[in-house]
Amino acid sequence: MNQATLHQLKVFEAAARHGSFTRAAEELFLTQPTVSMQIKQLTKSVGLPLFEQVGKRLYLTEAGRELFATCRQIFETIAQFEMKVADLKGLKQGQLRLAVITTAKYFIPRLLGPFCQLYPGIDIALQVTNHEGILERMTNNMDDLYIMSQVPDHLDVSYEQFLENPLVVLAPTNHPLVGEKNISIQRLGEEPFIMREPGSGTRRSIQKLFDEHGIEVKVKLELGSNEAIKQAIAGGLGISVLSRHTLIPDTGDLVILDVENFPIKRSWYMVHPSGKQLSIVARTYFEYLLDASRKLADRQFNYHEKVTVG
Ligand code: PGA
Repeated sequence: MNQATLHQLKVFEAAARHGSFTRAAEELFLTQPTVSMQIKQLTKSVGLPLFEQVGKRLYLTEAGRELFATCRQIFETIAQFEMKVADLKGLKQGQLRLAVITTAKYFIPRLLGPFCQLYPGIDIALQVTNHEGILERMTNNMDDLYIMSQVPDHLDVSYEQFLENPLVVLAPTNHPLVGEKNISIQRLGEEPFIMREPGSGTRRSIQKLFDEHGIEVKVKLELGSNEAIKQAIAGGLGISVLSRHTLIPDTGDLVILDVENFPIKRSWYMVHPSGKQLSIVARTYFEYLLDASRKLADRQFNYHEKVTVG
């Protein structure tokens, strides 16, 4: 292994994680032949094949699996070292890797602007994905902090609640139910419904509430993005349930319906694996976000008073 380089291990780790040279190349901004070459050289240093191809799929050999686990440990140790060095320097600089659920994208980027001005030495990598995507990233220890609405109960994590994330029923402004008070939840079963994709936390919450009340909605359309759903509602394709934060900024073409058992009360949590020691950068962001979201909550309360009709 004396010949192996850190770069080769990085390439191998990405290829093993994705099960694909092409996707590893995309992630690392390399060409596919470069990835193949690096892995070929690494294979030579190890002296055993690392991958095997069965049909179209790529699998790790036993040596590959061992090396994959070793890579994880090596990169984690290096990250810890970098963190200690940054802490020793006492400087707020380095990289912050954030992964947030789709609805948090309506306010997290806004809060990042002032944060970056305050700490110009901190670079941010922000991933936006659905609930299932966050769980996967967390399991693979890919980010410093995660923002999500449902704290996973099968993983050992530390978390802090920082802002409400209510789910509301949205309809177009010309919908016949606009202006009606305390609409029965059963009534939703009669409306064409637009649903988020499987793996979405929003979808899971809606489904839970509907199951509790024995309601079967007529799913007219399934869409994997809050923005696409908003457009579909505005276009008259149906109603839906989304986070109230998706109304930022208010375009004036959607209305929150006053339906019993709504809003579904949820919150945003800042989460990280319990065993993971937070870097000074991550801790700084953690504290900043708690403070900034408190201020934002006050502002949004006023804002939503304005847009709520019903
Ligand atoms: P989603 O996340 O994008 O998975 O629906 C939102 C949530 O869980 O609140």
